[in-house]
Amino acid sequence: MNDMTPTREQREAKLEGMGCKRKRVEDIRFTQGKGNYVDDVKLPGMLHGDFVRSPHAHARVKSINSEEALKVPGVLAVITAETLKTVNLAWMPTLAGDVQMVLADGKVLFQNQEVAFVVATDRYAADDGVNKVVVDYEALPVVIDPFKAMDADAPVLREDLAGKTSGAHGPRKHHNHIFEWTVGDKDLTDAAFRKADVTIKEMISYHRTHPSPLETCQCVCSFDKIRGELTIWGTFQAPHVIRTVVALIAKIPEHKIHVISPDIGGGFGNKVGAYPGYICAAVASIVTGKPVKWVEDRIENLTASSFARDYHMTTEIAATRAGKVSGLRVHVLADHGAFDACADPSKWPAGFFNIVTGSYDFPVAHLSVDGIYTNKAPGGVAYRCSFRVTEAAYCIERGMDILAQKLGMDPAELRLKNFIRADQFPYHSALGWEYDSGDYHTAMRKMMESVDYAGLRRQQAEQRAAFKRGETREIMGLGVSFFTEIVGAGPSKNCDILGIAMFDSCEIRLHPTGAGIARVGTKSQGQGHETTWAQIIATEIGIPADDIMVEEGNTDTAPYGLGTYGSRSTPVAGAAIAMAARKIKAKAQMIAAYKLEVHEDDLEWDIDGFRVKGLPERTMSMKDICWAAYNSVPPGMEPGLEAVSYYDPPNMTYPFGAYICVMNIDVDTGVYQVKRFYALDDCGTRINPMIIEGQVHGGLTEAFAIAMGQEIRYDEAGNVVTGSFMDFFMPTAVETPHWETDFTVTPSPHHPIGAKGVGESPNVGGVPAFSNAVNDAFAFLGATHIQMPHDFWRNWQAAKNLGVFAAP
Ligand code: CDP
Repeated sequence: MNDMTPTREQREAKLEGMGCKRKRVEDIRFTQGKGNYVDDVKLPGMLHGDFVRSPHAHARVKSINSEEALKVPGVLAVITAETLKTVNLAWMPTLAGDVQMVLADGKVLFQNQEVAFVVATDRYAADDGVNKVVVDYEALPVVIDPFKAMDADAPVLREDLAGKTSGAHGPRKHHNHIFEWTVGDKDLTDAAFRKADVTIKEMISYHRTHPSPLETCQCVCSFDKIRGELTIWGTFQAPHVIRTVVALIAKIPEHKIHVISPDIGGGFGNKVGAYPGYICAAVASIVTGKPVKWVEDRIENLTASSFARDYHMTTEIAATRAGKVSGLRVHVLADHGAFDACADPSKWPAGFFNIVTGSYDFPVAHLSVDGIYTNKAPGGVAYRCSFRVTEAAYCIERGMDILAQKLGMDPAELRLKNFIRADQFPYHSALGWEYDSGDYHTAMRKMMESVDYAGLRRQQAEQRAAFKRGETREIMGLGVSFFTEIVGAGPSKNCDILGIAMFDSCEIRLHPTGAGIARVGTKSQGQGHETTWAQIIATEIGIPADDIMVEEGNTDTAPYGLGTYGSRSTPVAGAAIAMAARKIKAKAQMIAAYKLEVHEDDLEWDIDGFRVKGLPERTMSMKDICWAAYNSVPPGMEPGLEAVSYYDPPNMTYPFGAYICVMNIDVDTGVYQVKRFYALDDCGTRINPMIIEGQVHGGLTEAFAIAMGQEIRYDEAGNVVTGSFMDFFMPTAVETPHWETDFTVTPSPHHPIGAKGVGESPNVGGVPAFSNAVNDAFAFLGATHIQMPHDFWRNWQAAKNLGVFAAP
């Protein structure tokens, strides 16, 4: 070996493979303003569409008059439900098996519902046209409070469902009822409650909120009449699914539909579903023969395209006096708004909420969920969440704290006592899941040691004593949360969208010079896939990550995939990438054996190529194998070096984490200060620790926002009162706390590289940590459960209700 020969470490470092803090390659264009977003798509002759929206939450539409609008210079057309009926598109199917009006058909059911679509030569003219459309409404009584939706005298919201006693998920018990979903053993659970020494029961609400990505939902539709082809550029988290849905409902052959998701500015679930804007822009393009752009503004995004949560969870836990849990019973009232447009895998009307037993060894459990209609926007998307796991984690983590309070036990000790033990994995939960791997005790103890949990509790006791003595007006809360996630939807045995199994895919093509391209069925919206997917390939086949270009989001070139949401990319597509790479490696081994004139079995892998066993100087690098693949393959072998993998995972992956929030609250003002926030995540094998840290920071910031104020709120008349960033809490760097991050590594036994998802974990674990901190602070004053969000005003009210203000 001469001095110029790179060492093993240097060869490994050059790959920038898994485990490397590789800088994000996509940031080169983003930080220079060279991204290409939907609004950057500008086509010759492009028209613009804008919606007339309902000011009412519930009203009959008596007439729509477009006469004056059509006189506005630049306005070319006003599309209404009557127009859409001529092409059978006035209603569209939802992902949840319901139907949804594209444009108001005789009635509106939520404020800002789409009523008419004005098409004009520019956005301003379209907006002027919108203001000139005259709609005659007759207001109807509204249903906003979910607890009143199934009253006997509640107004009928969905007249189109009159007489339908069952829906996509079974029987309906009331005209505003959508479904009832039950899981678990009711009799055994009821028996456990009868025998229990101690029980708790609390109605825990997770309020309605919204993913609110910086870039709103938008599209450009361009129909080529000569070719009969429709091209759609859109903010789609799942472009292939959109292509299939368009083919099914617009009856355009699927190969003549080209869906392109260019760069996307955040999705968080908001960009999974199909919205009226997409249909109207497509119809407008077909009608006018010109490309049509539709771009939502912020108010439209917050009030009309999707929402998240709105789960009201009556939670009961049974336990022994020593604090061992013996049963869990949960009933959820799920407010789905005007149409059931929840973005869940088809068979799961409440998503994966049955992960609600969390990280604890519950011998029995029973869950029932009632979905109901109200006069609110439809959606029910998984906001940085794997289909209602965030609600489930909040439910059980608040429940465990409430139980600890009743037992007079420390919440961390109660958790340690009830965790599923490492030797119990794979673990079958009482509500039907098989957890793949975990080591909860180690993670929890590491968290407790890192923050000096015992010291913090001592500090809290001193603070409480000082409060009692009147020396401070601040109360201190420690919010512990431990979560188990369920990500990687999913195995075809239990997950599909509209009948399409939720596999994912990767196609890798290596070029003669040793560079290549990987096309993947997922679509990054900021998660850094261009960086991390290349790292998996680098480790698997020894080509430097810099030499692999990653492409996603074009249905013409990427293999069919189910897209990116619910942290499914790494568990499903990440596996497909590794499997495609391994197919390439197998062929490469045959080529190397032929060139080195040895049997394949005499070769062994060595970082970036093959070497002959026992003869380390006889090697062939992957770069040289690429060249050989195009000029001297073994006789009978096809030239080229490429592979495709469609990966159907055998199971979900179950990441977990231990979080703690230390918070002080001033009882006179309700103002809180997050003193510390520590987050330990275990996502199995870590591909890029820097990206993981970024994902955790982002998710914690969203969790902070949701727990401490971010809410979509309606007044009694059904007006949205939080329709802009003036009212909807969007934390900036000023409000956002400092995050301390940490990790343990428990690989997934069934994933080819042992990786689990991570993107949404901090949202799942963060919200209960914040809420438990607030509740822990107020528990000292006698509170059992204070509903989120915990903004200053509500904290002040909580203090007032607990009587902390002495009479003068
Ligand atoms: O589906 P989504 O991309 O939102 O979530 P994810 O699979 O959790 O991945 C988010 C980002 O974190 C991706 O760039 C992953 O490659 C990266 N990641 C990682 O580096 N190591 C893991 N074990 C999991 C994710």
